[in-house]
This record gives sequence, structure tokens and C-alpha cells, in this order.
Amino acid sequence: MKFINLGTEKEACHYVANELLKQIITDNKSVLGLATGGTMVGVYEQLVNLIKINKLDLSNITTFNLDEYIGIDSDHPESYYTYMHDILFNHLSSWNEEKIHLPHGSANDLNSEVERYENLIDKEGPMDIQILGIGENGHIGFNEPGTSFDSLTSVVDLTESTIEANSRYFETKEEVPKQAISMGIQSILKAKRIILLAFGPKKAEAIQKLLSGEITTDLPASALYNHPNVEIIVDNSAYSNK
Ligand code: GLP
Repeated sequence: MKFINLGTEKEACHYVANELLKQIITDNKSVLGLATGGTMVGVYEQLVNLIKINKLDLSNITTFNLDEYIGIDSDHPESYYTYMHDILFNHLSSWNEEKIHLPHGSANDLNSEVERYENLIDKEGPMDIQILGIGENGHIGFNEPGTSFDSLTSVVDLTESTIEANSRYFETKEEVPKQAISMGIQSILKAKRIILLAFGPKKAEAIQKLLSGEITTDLPASALYNHPNVEIIVDNSAYSNK
């Protein structure tokens, strides 16, 4: 696992957008594992610009998102489906909607849905690059502390701390969904290459714990030590070991 402090959020987002760009240029049939959250906004803004400048065709690119809320429809303003379309997909015309995948959080049969999603990852994957944010409690995707490192895509309960952290996007805390579908830790580790980003002082504690090297289900991100190709990209304020 490589820790890389790029100083500012802007530099870090640029690095990641550029790595995604290089992947798309190298293989126009790449499979990208995408994430949501405030951390990724700058990455996608820069990626949109880079793809436009390079006039790249995305019609054979496959994407898989890590997670989606349960209990809100995909057209809800805070669904991850809406986030991805507003920030990334709708800005570039060549995406093939059939190759863009998010879990269906409003599916009637959630057990079939999680199975469908994991099978699709196995069929279309593995991801060439999986990008990840990190929760203040060290979660990746929505895999909260205590999640088995063997977990596959499943229905997960969000912890109080995650509901609190994500309430900034909703009018009231009560509106924040209490459950989500998330790729599991094992699903994430299937990727060929993983890049995790963490910005800001609220992530410093989780990054400090990750830096300690202890591999524990109390810190889901520490599962990444079991993968051979992981970069942790931070800014100054998330990096307590400056
Ligand atoms: C959310 C998402 C994660 C994301 C994390 C951090 O709960 N499920 O995938 O990495 O929280 O979000 P942010 O980037 O807004 O801090």
C-alpha cells in the first residue's frame, strides 16, 4: 500500500482524474469502479474536462458504482444514481447507459438484486481501477466497521455516524436512508488496482489508523492491505503524519 500526500485536494483530484484518463486511453473497453461522496466531485469535474479535451469515446467503457441508498427512488435528488448523472454521466454524450451500473436500491426483491449485482461484476469485471472514498469511521463503500472482509454485495445498515455525516445532503437527519446496497469488501478487492482518496481534517483519524498498519474489521479500509496494488491519496489536512 502506497500513501501519497499530494498537498491539496485539487492536486489529488487531478492525479486521480488523470489516472482514470490514462486507463481509458490505454483500453477503450476499460471497467471502472466508481464512488460517490463529496470527495469525488473534484475528480469527476476534472475527468469531464480531460475527456472533452482528448475527445475520447466512452461507448465501450463499463462502470460499476459501489453503492446506492435503499428507500429512495433513483430519481431522488440525493440518490447516487442522480449524483453520478448530474456530476459525471450527463456531461459526456458518449457513455453507453447500458454499460453504466449502480445497484437498484428501490428493487422489490433486494436479495435478488444484490446477487444480480455481484454476478454482473464477475461477468463484466474485474475493475481495471476502483476508486474509493473513506468514511470518517473508516468505511469503504457502505461497509461499516465490523463488516467481514469476505463480504460480497449486500444490504447493509448504516451506522449512526454515517447517517450523521451524510445528513448534510438532506434537509433533515430523519430523511437520510438507514440502509443501502453496497459492494462488499471482497467485491472491492477483486479490482486490479485501487485508489482511495481522503481529504480534510475529518478524515485524519481514519487515515492515521490506516497508517498504523493494523488490519482489523474495526477499520474496513484496512482490508486494503490484503490487496497488492493500492494507493492512498491524501491532502495535507487528512494526513496526520506530515
Ligand atoms: C459515503 C459513501 C462512501 C464515501 C463516504 C465519504 O457514505 N457511501 O462511498 O466514500 O461516505 O463521503 P465524502 O466523500 O462525502 O466524505
